[in-house]
Amino acid sequence: KMNAFVSNLMSKMTLDEKIGQLNLVTPGGAVTGAVVSKGVDENIRKGLVGGLFGIWGPEKVRQAQKIAVENSRLHIPLIFGLDVIHGHKTIFPIPLGMAATWDTMLVEKSARIAATEATADGLKWAFSPMVDIARDPRWGRISEGNGEDPYLGSKIAQAMVRGYQNGDVSKDNSLMACVKHFALYGGAEAGREYNTVDMSRVQMYEYYLPPYKAAVDAGVGSVMSSFNVVDGIPATGNKWLLTELLRKQWGFKGFVVSDYTSVSEMTAHGMGDLQAVSALALKAGLDMDMVAEGFLNTLKKSLSEGKVTQQDIDVACKRILEAKYKMGLFEDPYRGVNEDRPAKEILTDDNRKAAREVAEHSFVLLKNDAQILPLKKSGTIALVGPLADNQRNMLGTWVVAGDWQKSVSVMQGIRNVAGNNVNIIYEKGANITDDSLLKARTNALGVEVETDKRSPQDMINEAVDAANKADVVVAVVGEAADMTGESSSRSDISIPESQENLLKALVQTGKPVVIVLFNGRPLTLTWENDHAKAILDTWFGGTEAGNAIADVLFGNYNPSGKISTTFPRSVGQIPIYYNHKNTGRPFNNDGAKFKSSYLDISNDPLYPFGYGLSYTTFSYSDVKLSKTKLKGNETLNATVTVSNTGKFAGEETVQLYISDPVASVSRSVKDLKGFQKIMLQPGESKEVTFTITPEQLKFFNSDLKYDWESGDFIVHIGTNSSDVKIAKLNWIK
Ligand code: IFM
Repeated sequence: KMNAFVSNLMSKMTLDEKIGQLNLVTPGGAVTGAVVSKGVDENIRKGLVGGLFGIWGPEKVRQAQKIAVENSRLHIPLIFGLDVIHGHKTIFPIPLGMAATWDTMLVEKSARIAATEATADGLKWAFSPMVDIARDPRWGRISEGNGEDPYLGSKIAQAMVRGYQNGDVSKDNSLMACVKHFALYGGAEAGREYNTVDMSRVQMYEYYLPPYKAAVDAGVGSVMSSFNVVDGIPATGNKWLLTELLRKQWGFKGFVVSDYTSVSEMTAHGMGDLQAVSALALKAGLDMDMVAEGFLNTLKKSLSEGKVTQQDIDVACKRILEAKYKMGLFEDPYRGVNEDRPAKEILTDDNRKAAREVAEHSFVLLKNDAQILPLKKSGTIALVGPLADNQRNMLGTWVVAGDWQKSVSVMQGIRNVAGNNVNIIYEKGANITDDSLLKARTNALGVEVETDKRSPQDMINEAVDAANKADVVVAVVGEAADMTGESSSRSDISIPESQENLLKALVQTGKPVVIVLFNGRPLTLTWENDHAKAILDTWFGGTEAGNAIADVLFGNYNPSGKISTTFPRSVGQIPIYYNHKNTGRPFNNDGAKFKSSYLDISNDPLYPFGYGLSYTTFSYSDVKLSKTKLKGNETLNATVTVSNTGKFAGEETVQLYISDPVASVSRSVKDLKGFQKIMLQPGESKEVTFTITPEQLKFFNSDLKYDWESGDFIVHIGTNSSDVKIAKLNWIK
């Protein structure tokens, strides 16, 4: 039916109208490039626009759609997209925080709510999930992804696609998802935004590509090409990537959109003028050009000069029309657009409740000496730090439609949760940063980093006075929302100096200091880890962050998050990630020279992948294997007993890793292959069993064949990637 409808429509379309479908424009909104589309209304009327992003709200969407379906010759509806990244108006934690929940049901729920709110606001397409694997926390966009692991990243990618698309993108409350940035964008050299990516195919297939493929397997409707080069050719014009891999190897059937002006940026990459790069992109398999208007302005000429074929244009046009058909827009171009929906479906109490729940689950307890946390709901707390009474920075990066004024600050959250027996003395204590370059660049992105009228020393003195009057200091410190995200790479990933000075002065008072950290990336926290009594990593927790933080600080929720990226001790260790190779000269902390190590720092991270504490403690039994010698397609069970040995009920994410010590390619020291989140009451024990199949032993060999090889394997089960119990087995093909 779809085929017949689309071919019939295409038989009536002029060449210009076909090319028009490939054109994605933005009249403004969240602009991340130098160009903004001009003459949008006029072009819609002429049938020269396929989709539009950057506007939302039923009235605005209806107005623009009306032009397309009433004033253009063939009445073809537009697709309305937006960067709905971690919520639409009810904002959830940044994706790196959501990944720390290791809870795919919660992640899916957040995407479902985002889709409901976004469709209530007239939208039908989200530029999400972002699934770029990143091992370099200098890269600002590490905040938008799921961390360093392809297995966890794949599970989250699929949960997001399910949540957005809801099994059928034509439903009133379903959004078409767009997996991005295809591909390898997170591998930018030196963590510098938009920088070159260069890696072996084995590395790509094994570690960087799986989450995109997982999204494709989950039925994602669209894919966004990335800004970077892949094997020397920009992704947007890379035929191997967009056609050979994506469509032929993976069977992707949807459409591919470029990133913002990534078509025209291929000129700066050295691929030729606008006409040349547009033809290159179309021939590579790109279907929709975001904002560059390279397709709109040059494809006709390229066709007449034989640089592209009619079929190239038709194929792309067909894919866009098919997406519109699947969204049900030909039946009803205003599908889901209803002026009554926003009031009923956006920022509802239930949505806020869900945001609070997800935020609580995303926080990671990095340190908790002598059980300083949870805090008592009595006594005096010195609440200090530039992020303590600061609504503007609660939401984090990429919150296009989110309103910071709807968010709950930490101060407000503590007041809501702690009750009247707690006396709070607030002092700002420091500016987020006093570094003029960092401040200017951060301010340029949006959320102003304000400077207090008081001198830095006066602010610190006042905070110290507050600390001296208190039983405990809660210091809310870290990055401003816009210090992470797109175009926010940092070479120094510590807490800005102004706040470090504050922390040092607070520690000097001798009062216990609890750090509540705001961060969009792993930070270097070596000093903080040595001197603070507790560190609670809260990322950017979203609309309900303040309430969720207070819930955790006062023990209404026992933290269970685990980091999905390694936290280095120093920026010099980067890239640092758990699934590294052994090397020929592994360092065993024996001090020997001529080993793979540094002279001045250990190889170990500050906090390993998968790490996160709880208010309770868990103990793990040894690993029991149901078999230790296997053949062919047999399977085995690996079981541990996990016990809650502390005083609080709590959740634990039990992690399964496998290593393959002898293979035809040098394998990593271990790879995550499964996880289960369990709840245990104090004193309770549970058996956790993982079924292991040959599928989990597979890897890409140097011919890029995905298979497993006979030999010994080691099963590791534990509370994080370093702290594991192991058992060995032998498996013959
Ligand atoms: O979706 C984004 C992308 O992640 C970065 N460039 C702009 C796009 C649209 O806003």
